[in-house]
Parts: sequence; structure tokens; C-alpha cells
Amino acid sequence: MRHSIRSDTPNASKSNNRLRWPRGGILPDAQDDKREKAFLVGVLLPNSRVDWSDPLGELAALAESSGTEVCDSLVQKRPALSPGYALGKGKLAELVERAEASEIDVVIFDNALSPRQIRNLEKALERKVIDRSELILDIFACRAVTREARMQVELAQLQYTAPRLRGMWTHLERIAGAGGATAAGAVGGVGTRGPGERQIEIDRRIVRERIRHLQREIDQIDRRKQQEVDTRSDRFSVSLVGYTNSGKSTLMNRLTGAECFCADQLFATLDTKTIRWDLGERTSALLSDTVGFVRDLPHHLVASFRATLEETVHADLLLHVVDISSPQAWQQVEAVEAVLAELNCGDVPQIYVLNKVDVADDMSMAEMLTCHRPSSVSISALTGAGIDKLLDEVRQRARHDRCDVTLQVPHSEGKLLSEIDRLAEVRDREYGADNVQIKANISRAHLLQLTGRYKRLVVTDGPDDLFGDTDEAQ
Ligand code: GTP
Repeated sequence: MRHSIRSDTPNASKSNNRLRWPRGGILPDAQDDKREKAFLVGVLLPNSRVDWSDPLGELAALAESSGTEVCDSLVQKRPALSPGYALGKGKLAELVERAEASEIDVVIFDNALSPRQIRNLEKALERKVIDRSELILDIFACRAVTREARMQVELAQLQYTAPRLRGMWTHLERIAGAGGATAAGAVGGVGTRGPGERQIEIDRRIVRERIRHLQREIDQIDRRKQQEVDTRSDRFSVSLVGYTNSGKSTLMNRLTGAECFCADQLFATLDTKTIRWDLGERTSALLSDTVGFVRDLPHHLVASFRATLEETVHADLLLHVVDISSPQAWQQVEAVEAVLAELNCGDVPQIYVLNKVDVADDMSMAEMLTCHRPSSVSISALTGAGIDKLLDEVRQRARHDRCDVTLQVPHSEGKLLSEIDRLAEVRDREYGADNVQIKANISRAHLLQLTGRYKRLVVTDGPDDLFGDTDEAQ
């Protein structure tokens, strides 16, 4: 099904892409049968993290995912982006000519462009220009189904759009120019601002208010999610993370018998699903599948998807799914690790799940990854190969994660007592003159958290590797 940029938002217009809101997305309108024709451009900088053998391959896949037809492409190696047009003069002239000849609708840059570069390029090319971030935001906007995902994408789009608003209103600035030009033809100055300029101010205010409103709503969702995650803290929680299309949903289905949507397309999943996972031998966990990552994910998007990624942030274990059949596997691992670091969960224990071994021609990538990331298991989520080994590994971690403890807490520590109730599975309580003695089962992470925060908490019996021999200490 085709999706369209929302038309119930301010200034939406079907006839003029420049006026569409947010700033000229490229997804085709529902009634529009014709796919937009795209021209891809990449400026290869010395530190580019692209696949140098196919520098625009991923951008092409993203563009196809957004519903456009890729017609032509061009790359240029440069030491830095040119401040005015990103490309050099000669390449720009070539781009103008080729875009004209192929009747291109939209030019998509793989690089992040400044508002000024976009403005200049749109003027020179006389067609819409977007960069990689805006393309990813468009795909997210298209895939978002739930109210929560829609709000998160809208917030990211508005934050991205706000500094670029001027570009949308160049036609109105021209109206202003006609009415307010000086004799020398210059536009601007006191008393010369026309309706375009005023509209920008109105728009900026609308955008600011909408951003504030969305932030408030998303904060509330964040708090609710945090509570949900807290209430499940007596369970070992595992999150699937990985580059988009690496096979996370397929693995989730294989492990839990769930029916998550899987498709050979980028960002098929935008919402988090959490399902109970039976690990066998009377052990279970909660398994979450969440949004896939991609290189250079727009920062605003990561920030607004924090609520969706809450499961990942608070997981006890991450299963980092890697498509080992991709020649880009190594770069994809690094891109995912970068997003995890941005989410402050780079320290959560990880198992690298090297997926799609059934179609990997060459296992040297798997060997290299295993060498650098020793905690890895090779599997095929599709055929089931290696799944038992993965299950064993997770079961062991889940068992090791929890421990039986005896705690001694003064009666006066009401807050600590309620935290223990919330985080641990309390099995027995004995009330003494000054203290309560509690026997409980708790995760190691929570135990360390409590002992770090409450100095009056005494662990009279607990795991030796955390507290030494507690019996001897008595
Ligand atoms: P996003 O939602 O985009 O992040 O994707 P995902 O990581 O959830 O990937 P998904 O499970 O949707 O799988 C993507 C494609 O890879 C689908 O076409 C799957 O059938 C295919 N796939 C997943 N695992 C395997 C595997 O082990 N072997 C093979 N050959 N294909 C697989």
C-alpha cells in the first residue's frame, strides 16, 4: 500500500511539493500513481563509512523503500563538502544537465546537507533536494502505525525541519521582494517584509508550539514505559537489536513462535513487541524486538525513539543480530554499536548473533567478528541452524543473572523496603527488634544497584563473587 505525507497538517498541498509539510517528503500521494524519479548523489569524503565498492547501494535501497524510482546516480570524491553546493562546480553542472535530461523529480544526497546547501541546490536544480536524514525520516513516517510511533516521527521531523523552514517559503519571499524591493533591486530592511516573511514567523511559532506539545506527550509515554519496564524487573529481559533487515523479527518468531511482521525491506518494524520466551529447563525471559538501526541514523530520530527503545536501554542482555551474508556486516556492527552508545547502553552485555549463515558464501566475516567479539553464536533464523546453541547461551546467562540473598534492613528504611518489594521476588520476611530479615531472589544488577544506593542495607547471605564469603564476614 502506498502511503502519503499527512495532508491534515498546516500548509499541506498535493499540487506543490515545496509546500508539503513537513518539508517536502518524497513519498508519493495516495492518489498519485506515478512513482517519483530520484537521482542519487554521494560525495565521498576521506572518512566516509560507505561501502566503497558500491557507495550508493544502501541509499538506493532506502530510496526504493520510500517508494521512489532510482533513475540515475553520481559520486564525487572530495576532501570536504563544498559549503555552497556540497559538490564542486563541474559536477554540479553535470548534475543539473543529467537531472534535466532524465526528468528527475527529486535529488537525494547521501551526505548530511546544511539548510543553505539545500536552498542553493534546489535553486540551481529547480527541483526538490533532500538528504539521507530526511529520506530516513520519510520512511519512518511512512511505516509508523501506532500513535506513539507517529508522534515520535513527527517530533523528529519537526526538529529537523525547523531550521530549514525558510526554504519552504522562497516563493513567498519573492512576493515580498516584488512589493518591497528598493530602487537598486535589493530586498529587505525595515518595512519591506512581505507576507512570506510573516508566514515564516507564524510557521516557526506553530512548529515551536507543536514541538513542545509532542515533547510533553512523549515524556508522558516515556514515564509510562519506564513504569512498565520496572514492573517486569523480576524477569530476565532480552532485547533484539541490529541493523535494519538483519533478521530480528524472523529470529523473534523462531524463538517465541510469535507472528512478527518480517519483510525484505528496511525498517519493517518500528514499534517494540515484548513476548515471554520459554528458555526451557524452567527458565524464561522477556524478549523484545524493536526498530532496526542504520548508519547515520538522524540524531533527532534516536532521541525521539527513546521511549520505543526503552526495552533496549533497560535490557539485561542484548542479542545483537548481524546479517553475516552482507559484505557490509562489519560496518553494520559498528553503526549499531554507535547508536547503542548514543542510547547509553553500550555497556549492556551482548551476544552477537551471526545470522543468515545459510546464505553466507564466505565465513571469513563470521570468523573475524568472532575473533573481535568473542561472545558470538552463528545461526540461521530461517532454517533454525544454531538456535539450540543460542538458547543454551541465553539460558546460562539468565540463570547466572539471578541470585538468592538474605538482606537485613532497618525498620526505619521505608523507601528501601518498598524498592526491595518492587525489584525482588521476596520469599520470606522475619521481623526483629530493629531490623527486618528478608530472603529474596533478585537480579545481580538490581542487587548491586540497591547496595550502592542504600548504605544501611546489609547482605547477610549472597553470591560469593559479588560480596566475598558472606558467612565468614558474619
Ligand atoms: P527491520 O524491521 O527492517 O529492522 O528488519 P528485521 O531485522 O526485523 O529483519 P526481518 O526479520 O524482517 O528479515 C529481513 C529479511 O531477511 C526477510 O526477508 C527474512 O526472510 C530474511 N531473513 C531473516 N533471517 C534469515 C536467515 O537466517 N536466512 C535467510 N536466508 N534469510 C533470512
